Amino acid sequence: MTNEPQQATQPDPKLPPASESAATPPKTVTMPEPTPNPFRAGMRRSRAPEPATLVIFGATGDLSRRKLLPAVFGLWQDGLLGSAFNIVGVGRQEMTDEQFRDYALEALKTSKETDAILPGSLEKFRELLYYEFGDFDKDDVYDRVGTQLDEAENAHGGRKNAVFYLSTPPSLFEPISNGLGRLKLQDQSEGWRRIIIEKPFGTTLETARHLNDAIHGVWDESQVYRIDHYLGKETVQNLMAIRFGNAIFEPIWNRSYVDHVQITAAEDLGLEGRAGYYEEAGILRDMLQNHLMQLFTLVAMEPPVAFDEGAIRDEKVKVLRAVKPIPKEQVAASAVRGQYGPGTLAGERVPGYREEPGVKPGSSTPTYVAVKFEIENWRWQGVPFFIRTGKRLPKKVTEIAVVFKKPPLGLFPGGLERNVLAFRIQPDEGVSLKFSSKTPGQENQLREVTMDFRYDAFGAGLESPYSRLVLDAMLGDATLFPREDEVDHAWQLVTGMLEAWDGQDAPEFPNYAAGSWGPEAADALMGPDRRWRRL
Ligand code: BG6
Repeated sequence: MTNEPQQATQPDPKLPPASESAATPPKTVTMPEPTPNPFRAGMRRSRAPEPATLVIFGATGDLSRRKLLPAVFGLWQDGLLGSAFNIVGVGRQEMTDEQFRDYALEALKTSKETDAILPGSLEKFRELLYYEFGDFDKDDVYDRVGTQLDEAENAHGGRKNAVFYLSTPPSLFEPISNGLGRLKLQDQSEGWRRIIIEKPFGTTLETARHLNDAIHGVWDESQVYRIDHYLGKETVQNLMAIRFGNAIFEPIWNRSYVDHVQITAAEDLGLEGRAGYYEEAGILRDMLQNHLMQLFTLVAMEPPVAFDEGAIRDEKVKVLRAVKPIPKEQVAASAVRGQYGPGTLAGERVPGYREEPGVKPGSSTPTYVAVKFEIENWRWQGVPFFIRTGKRLPKKVTEIAVVFKKPPLGLFPGGLERNVLAFRIQPDEGVSLKFSSKTPGQENQLREVTMDFRYDAFGAGLESPYSRLVLDAMLGDATLFPREDEVDHAWQLVTGMLEAWDGQDAPEFPNYAAGSWGPEAADALMGPDRRWRRL
C-alpha cells in the first residue's frame, strides 16, 4: 500500500477551529448486532481482544482512509473488537475530534472496502474516534497521545492495552517509535502494548537492519508486528491450508515431481499519483522484497512442526536461508528489469512511466522485474522458481503455479503436457489443476482440461487483509507478520539486484509497452523449454 507522505494541509475554513488537544474523555459504546457476514460468522469470537485502543499514526493518509479505517470498522461492526475499543488518530493535519470523525465517516462511506453499513452503526462508531495532530519529529504530540491514551484506558477499566499502527512514510518509523519510547508507552506492566509497522521496512539491507535495531531499542521483538498485507489475503493463507491440510499434495511437492514454480503479480495500474514514493522505491522495494518474497516462501517452505507463529516463521526463514544468493555480477543471468513505455490498456492509450507526472524524464526506476531463484535444499535442488511482477501489465492477476514434470513416456499423440496446480490469489480467487484428458471420439487424442475450485463457492465476499491482520495483532498472534530475521533475509536476496541496478542508467528503458506482458528478455529467462503462463 501507499506510504507517501501526507501533505501538510491548511484547516478547512468551513470547519470549526482545531483545539490543541481533544479534552473530551473517550466513550465506549454498545456494539450493534453482528452482521451476517458468513465469512466472519463465529470467527475467533472466542478470542475477542481485551479492551484496547488503536492509535493510528498517519490517520489522515491514503492507506488509513482507503483500507485501514474500513477494515477496523468492519471488525467493530461484526462485534470482533471486544467490549471496549477506541481509536486515536494521529496526523499532521490540524483537525478537531469532530473534524476527524467527519473525515473518517466520509472515508467509510466512500471506500470500496467498507462492508455493508448497518443502520445507526456509523453514528456509534464515530463516538469511538479521537484525534491528535502535530509534527512527528517533535515531542509534544506524543505527550498528547499519552494523555489521550490514559483517558481511553481509564474508560476501559484501567486496562492499558494499545496497538500503535505506523501508517506513515518510512522515514517516520524511527522517530515515532522513539517518541513513544520516551514516554514509555511500550511498557507492558499494566497491559499489552504492540506496534504495527507498515512496509517498506527499510530501503536496503543496511537501513532495514538499522531500523530493526532502532525499533528494538524501544520494543521487544514480541511486540513488533511488521505488516505485509499479502499475508492477510485469504487465498495466501489457503496456500498453507491446502499444502498442509491434505495428504495428496506434499508427497509430490518436491524436486522429483515439480519442474518449476511460477509466481506472478501483475498489475494493470500505473503510478496512481505516487511518483514521489515510486521513483525512490521501484518495483523491487515496492513488491518483490515483501509481497512476492512472502508468496515464494510459503510455497517453498517445509511443513512446520505446529501451526503457530514460532514454527511457521522458523520454516520461512529456513527456506530463505537456503536460496542461492544472486550477487551483483550474476544479476544479468538471473533477473530482468523493465520499465513501461506508452501503450494501450483496455482500449485506452496510456502514457509511459517517464511521462507520468512527477517522474524524471530519463528515470531508470524499474516498474517490472522477473527473477529466477534457486533453493539449495533437499526438497528443491534443481527446481527453479520464476517470479515476475510489474505495473501496467494487461490485467490485475496474482497467481502461484506449481508446474509438474512431463510424463516419462508419450503414449498418446498430443500428450506430454505438464500438469499445473495454480493458486489464484486474486481476482477470481481459487485453485485449479490442469491435466490432460482424452477428447471424446475414436482417436486417443489428449487435450488439457482444468478442475477448478473457486472461492465464490463459499457464497461470501473475502475479508479485507487488513481486518485479519489488525485483529491478529490485537489478539497477539504474529503468525502472519514477518519476523526480524525474515525481513533481513528477504533484503539479502534482493541486494544483488539493487546493487546492480540502483542509480545505474538503463539504456534499454522503456523496454515494454504498457498493456504488454513485460520485456522480451523475461521470456528468455525461462530457457527454451519453459514458458510464462498466459494469464
Ligand atoms: C502495495 C504496493 O504494497 O501493494 C502497490 O505499494 C501495489 O504499488 C499494491 O499496487 C498491490 O496490492 P494488491 O493487494 O492490490 O495486490
